[in-house]
Amino acid sequence: MGQVLCVVNHKGGSAKTSTAVNLASAFAITRRKILLVDFDPQSNATISLGMEKAGDDSLVGHLIAGNDPSDLIKRYELGGFDVIPSTEDLTALVVAIYDLDDKNLRLKYYIDSIKNNYDLIIIDCPPSSSLITANAICASDFVLIPTPCEYFALDSLNASIRQFDNLKEQGFTHASLLGVLRVMYNEDEQLSVEISNVLKNGFNELLLSTIIPYSPRISEAAGLGRPVILYDKSSDGARAYLTLAGELLAKLK
Ligand SMILES: Nc1ncnc2c1ncn2[C@@H]1O[C@H](COP(=O)(O)OP(=O)(O)OP(=O)(O)O)[C@@H](O)[C@H]1O
Ligand SMILES: [Mg+2]
Repeated sequence: MGQVLCVVNHKGGSAKTSTAVNLASAFAITRRKILLVDFDPQSNATISLGMEKAGDDSLVGHLIAGNDPSDLIKRYELGGFDVIPSTEDLTALVVAIYDLDDKNLRLKYYIDSIKNNYDLIIIDCPPSSSLITANAICASDFVLIPTPCEYFALDSLNASIRQFDNLKEQGFTHASLLGVLRVMYNEDEQLSVEISNVLKNGFNELLLSTIIPYSPRISEAAGLGRPVILYDKSSDGARAYLTLAGELLAKLK
């Protein structure tokens, strides 16, 4: 059975989408069957692959009303992986399911029904502790938290872990924290180095050893609608995401 990994951080701009998209691309290169779920109404993962947002037939309709989800999954041919594009309607999901007892589990029901078709499903989350993020965590076996090496990022990192712990305590998920990932790291900046050390002391073996450096190629690639690995394979950013995929594969076994 496939495994499910969500990329979470309440902080905006903490490279969740870049990590989800580039990991999907890196894992697909290893010939694994990968599905990327864009579960953020901003639809940045969808757009950064040059794909169309979903319409009324979106995943949201299925999660709310049980509409037939058969054509939700699109192929991203260039990268060799599947994608469920996002839709702005995702914000309606929060309102529609808010009063349900199983409001945290709506995405899990759907993901469980397709899990067997994939080696790995990666879910990109919005920058909040909303019900959307809770659904992603509860549908997952593993949680990955990318964090920039900045002071304010530490608060968001801790808040994200608290949401995860609360869902576990309430029995909604058995997911494990796969790791905390340092992103947009700049070895020439004293602050980057200091925060990286704080993270090392605080998270020990939960801090991933791969570091994603600050690499403008990552933004350029997203602007051109492709993962950095398919844009400039020799760039620091591409190499770091390939290394990260290797580190995570060892942990996912
Ligand atoms: N390692 C990096 N080096 C340079 N720029 C990066 C790097 N990672 C991400 N970026 C850029 O930083 C911006 C924010 O990244 P991204 O969209 O992945 O973050 P996010 O956490 O998904 O944001 P949001 O919270 O809005 O969903 C984007 O413009 C992205 O291209
Ligand atoms: Mg994002």
